[in-house]
Amino acid sequence: MTSIDEAAAATASMDAAAAATASNEDDTAEAASDELPSELAAWYGEQGLQIARVADLAPRYRYARVKDASETDAIRSTLDAEPVAWLPGFLRMPAARRLKGSAPYEDRRVFAMDAASGYAARALGCNEGDRVLDLCCAPGAKLLCLAEAVGVNGAVDGVDVSEKRLSVARKLLDAHHDPAGAARVRLYRSDGRRFPDERELLYDSRAADSFEQRGARKRLNKSARQREAKRLKALPEEDCAEAYDRVLVDADCTTDGSHAHVQKMVEKGTAVDNVSAERCSSLLELQAALLRNGFGRLRRGGVLVYGTCSLTKAQNEDVVEAFLRDEPAARLMSLEVPPVAVAGSIPGTVRFPAGGETSGLFVARLEKTPNVVVT
Ligand SMILES: C[S@@+](CC[C@H](N)C(=O)[O-])C[C@H]1O[C@@H](n2cnc3c(N)ncnc32)[C@H](O)[C@@H]1O
Repeated sequence: MTSIDEAAAATASMDAAAAATASNEDDTAEAASDELPSELAAWYGEQGLQIARVADLAPRYRYARVKDASETDAIRSTLDAEPVAWLPGFLRMPAARRLKGSAPYEDRRVFAMDAASGYAARALGCNEGDRVLDLCCAPGAKLLCLAEAVGVNGAVDGVDVSEKRLSVARKLLDAHHDPAGAARVRLYRSDGRRFPDERELLYDSRAADSFEQRGARKRLNKSARQREAKRLKALPEEDCAEAYDRVLVDADCTTDGSHAHVQKMVEKGTAVDNVSAERCSSLLELQAALLRNGFGRLRRGGVLVYGTCSLTKAQNEDVVEAFLRDEPAARLMSLEVPPVAVAGSIPGTVRFPAGGETSGLFVARLEKTPNVVVT
């Protein structure tokens, strides 16, 4: 067993929710009225949150990310949706409405993505041509936004420890990313605490492009997939250790702010174990290590966004504050608080509350201070 396999095993509980997360935003409307297990409700109480039912976490709106801005008005009227005033490129509709099955969704002119997630991707402030590292990238909605933001001259390296979740990301890319006309996207299976060490390249959109020219992409049988994997391995790779312009650390967490995840875990009977003291403490170590390595991969003057879909202070502000104490080159940058969110308990950070207009999310933005030249 490699250390990547070990790290993947530690997050296996998340895999159950992977498919839901890919279309997650499309399943959140099924607001269950089930009561939470009493231990879980008590755990929320310890975080200062009054959450007794799964439905208390449900966002009021369902969101669609429009891929081509010039189509926004037409798609908006087809979906009978309204624009999200604080987030360009997003439409919202009542949560009970389905996006799946609508023409814009089936024609792949939109994809489902919660607006809080869209905000986190936008907070990175990508520029055309940037090199971006997405350290916990699967199932990949933010990865798609980052790839769009850096354009054809940019590149996004997506890293995740879970092969299963990476295969969902691959499907999203197949559906929504143009390998020839857009950013280069690579997917690596690796432990984000150590990337670029011990990495396995699973997908390269530029290689997929050449594959497509042979008319074979999307219809690969098992032996063709094996040949493709071998070919990817043989490709000369640029060094991933080089400094990135932007890094997203969308860290693994207890997912207690996500209605879709909590609903799945309650159904499966894993929701209480998911917040056990042992799991929470191993997640805290993981989050700190992901943040440390993500920051290490950033160039001077580069920007990192740290986020989780946990509502706890421990997994959010505390992780960021501890990191700022240890890392003199890190500086917290202020984020604008959208009208549907609130300020985090450290100034400059943003919290989207669960059970509000969006899914629950915490977002912090850090800069690696530029070199100071002493004269
Ligand atoms: C919150 S999800 C990421 C969501 C993703 N950014 C998106 O927008 O779709 C957290 C991810 O972290 C991954 N993960 C957990 N431990 C990891 C590790 N040690 N290294 C890299 N990824 C890890 C999980 O497999 C999961 O896919």
